[in-house]
Amino acid sequence: MPVIAIIGGQWGDEGKGKIVDLVAREAKMVARFSGGNNAGHTVVNPYGEFRLHLVPSGIFNPQAACVVGNGVVIDPAVFLEEVDQLQKRGVNTDRLFISDRAHLIMPYHILLDALEEESRGGGALGTTRKGVGPAYVDKTARLGIRTGDILDSGLFRERLGFVLNYKNAILTKVYGAAPLSLEETYSQYCQYGQRLAPFIRETNTMVREALSRGDLVLLEGAQGTMLDLDFGTYPYVTSSSPIAGGVCSGLGLSPTKIEHILGVFKSYTTRVGSGPMPTELKDETGHLIRERAQEYGTTTGRARRCGWFDGVVARFSAEINGFTGIALTRLDVLDILPQLKICTGYKLDGDIIDHLPSSAAALERCQPVYQEMAGWQTPISQVRRFEDLPPEASRYVTRLQELVGCPINLISVGPSREQTIEVKPLL
Ligand code: IMP
Repeated sequence: MPVIAIIGGQWGDEGKGKIVDLVAREAKMVARFSGGNNAGHTVVNPYGEFRLHLVPSGIFNPQAACVVGNGVVIDPAVFLEEVDQLQKRGVNTDRLFISDRAHLIMPYHILLDALEEESRGGGALGTTRKGVGPAYVDKTARLGIRTGDILDSGLFRERLGFVLNYKNAILTKVYGAAPLSLEETYSQYCQYGQRLAPFIRETNTMVREALSRGDLVLLEGAQGTMLDLDFGTYPYVTSSSPIAGGVCSGLGLSPTKIEHILGVFKSYTTRVGSGPMPTELKDETGHLIRERAQEYGTTTGRARRCGWFDGVVARFSAEINGFTGIALTRLDVLDILPQLKICTGYKLDGDIIDHLPSSAAALERCQPVYQEMAGWQTPISQVRRFEDLPPEASRYVTRLQELVGCPINLISVGPSREQTIEVKPLL
């Protein structure tokens, strides 16, 4: 059985939750490898509608073990609240596990995320303010506290005392904020530790065991390629590696084990937060897409910036990740538009280019070069076979496929599991 990674091809919010939920019905393990509760995956299935931030979208498959890997940063309050909500609504969480190596989001991370954003003024990144960036900073600075650490209360107290001294100095001396209390933070996290203990495992071993049994393992991406710390629109990026390369270090999995890398693309583009987005529509069409698709953040409720499909971004993303297939989502959102545009290149300082500049400032200066295509102006949510799509829709999809440069496996034409066209079987 293969290992399939499901990766966001744009700026996140591509609809990965639905695709994972769909494919996860066959899986024995679904694992997250990066990000934290900055992610928000909306899943609509027979259990109802769910907004998940940390728990893998495979939780609805009673046969699948769900793993939150070492590459994820965990806010224990959010994780436990999500578990409580799932249990209340009848979803079994007995096979949910978190890595003992995953770093914890601490109260000072959340405070610092907001204080750092405020200090950036007009240059703010537009983070989700969930403490994700500062938690990864501490991981790299070797000041992090991992889930496994809070299970040993003596060692945890010692480590927290050391780190908190340092953090309180920054909070008070740099930002003029109030310090955090060691006693309160310690006792709160010890309580979290008691509740988290049954979930904490050496998950990298679990993943390898699943592979040696031949189980179908799904690797659930969060965020998207253009938010990658190295290959995204730096500095307007997240602090982790949402690309296929992040899977290996975020789970302890060898790169040779990943067989399929499915890139999830929205049929248009959205972005939340600051930073360049060449195909952004600040006009009536952008507004129409946002309202029709309810493009508001699952995590922060912020309005998402909407624009045309960017073929330059898509191609870059396919190359960085090595996509073997595509899941195209929200095609039905475009039903009402008489004319569609696809960005096939950029005009940068007088030259036409077909690659993505590495500098955000250069990308900001890029003017999209568009190919126009006729819209189909007919509802497609009921379509289940590619041959039954209106010809304009199949031409649009085929053009996107050409631009990305790999085959389309799935097309999503609505939020529910059934509203999916299987163009080419994944398995
Ligand atoms: P952070 O990840 O909270 O530090 O935010 C950094 C940037 O990534 C901001 O522009 C956020 O809006 C964006 N971001 C983080 N997570 C997501 C996501 O799940 N979907 C879309 N954008 C995200």
